[in-house]
Amino acid sequence: MTGPSRRVLLMSPEGELRSYLGDEGVVVRTLDEVLSHDNVDVIVVDGSAISNVPATLRALSAGMPGTEIILAVADLERLSPEDHRLLNSIGGSVVSYEQLSTHLRGLNPITVDVKRLLNVSTGGDFTALPARCVAVLGPKGGVGKTLMAVNLAFLVARSGMKTLLVDLDLAASDASVHLGLLEGPTILDMIPFVDDLPTMGFSKFVRSHPSGLDLVTGVPRPELAEMVEPSHVRSLLVAAFKYYSFIIVDTPAGATVDLTYESVEFCNYCLLVTTQDPCAVRQAGTALNTLLRMGIPSERFKVTVNRYADGGALPTAAAIGRFLGASVIGTVRQEPAAVGQALVRGIPVVGCTDDGITRDLKRIAEALCPGIKADETREPAFSILQLVRRLIR
Ligand SMILES: Nc1ncnc2c1ncn2[C@@H]1O[C@H](COP(=O)(O)OP(=O)(O)OP(=O)(O)O)[C@@H](O)[C@H]1O
Ligand SMILES: [Mg+2]
Repeated sequence: MTGPSRRVLLMSPEGELRSYLGDEGVVVRTLDEVLSHDNVDVIVVDGSAISNVPATLRALSAGMPGTEIILAVADLERLSPEDHRLLNSIGGSVVSYEQLSTHLRGLNPITVDVKRLLNVSTGGDFTALPARCVAVLGPKGGVGKTLMAVNLAFLVARSGMKTLLVDLDLAASDASVHLGLLEGPTILDMIPFVDDLPTMGFSKFVRSHPSGLDLVTGVPRPELAEMVEPSHVRSLLVAAFKYYSFIIVDTPAGATVDLTYESVEFCNYCLLVTTQDPCAVRQAGTALNTLLRMGIPSERFKVTVNRYADGGALPTAAAIGRFLGASVIGTVRQEPAAVGQALVRGIPVVGCTDDGITRDLKRIAEALCPGIKADETREPAFSILQLVRRLIR
């Protein structure tokens, strides 16, 4: 790598990374040694070799203001939500050893081939994952996350891929309404068996849609939501990779939801949903930056703008993409009549109309999963319950 170097300290108490660094960078072992250096641009803390990570991070943040702090760990899964929160509060980032090279390359032109030095084989190539997993995010409430998640899941399932939709909006689990799956197991039924999922499979814990889509719904009463922990979501998703070719996670509104961050680690795409409302765009930007600081590579983020209309004072899709620094893969127009009718019928809007909104959603599904036949117009084989609903209407 070429370019002006920045001063990098690598804090590694056992000094085991010295051999990797050669003449580049400086390996230091203790906090005192770190603090005795001036003009440091980046400190990489070997989080897997340090006993008190939070105290070290706090001391570095206070003692080295203006220095970029990166926590490198062998296993991201072992980092607690508290550690994530602390890193966010000091403006630091966490990366796995595998992501470190990509992260540093994006950060500055360090004159070290970190990829070779840290023995990285994948270079953060998340496309090597065996299945695809998409998290649908958008911190502002009501921007259309669930509408997007349900319709994408439905289109992918209908194209023949075994698909799981996980509704992580635990206390307000709306996906079941969009799909007309109001009865059946919830995520709470799954929790006691979450470690057995790899052998048991999902059939006892999901609501199955005639399109072939399986749904994990939230809890039956809001106060039960706290029974679902980040480790449960992790186990659920890891097991889901074994049984499903496509996994979509619908997430709740809000910027500080542990379960959301937990699922993003496993997703090879994060679909950020916003409207043209400047508040929604700004909140999307804040969430995106938080996730980037956590080490999620920027290429994973795709944006959709819901309730979109050209003209007027609101920002265009292109302007929103520029503001967020992520590509906008599609816009969805507002069609209250079509969406309302679909909700009342319990059928995803793409399954019951050919309106503009359906074409918009199909284009997004195809952009996200090239190869699926989103334009497949075959009506799914609806259940008896749905047939009866249709007849009495
Ligand atoms: N393009 C659209 N046209 C018409 N109605 C829409 C559109 N997008 C969303 N809606 C409706 O607006 C409401 C909010 O959408 P949705 O529930 O998908 O948002 P959300 O981001 O998931 O909300 P929450 O943050 O509460 O989870 C729903 O009733 C939905 O059907
Ligand atoms: Mg929702």
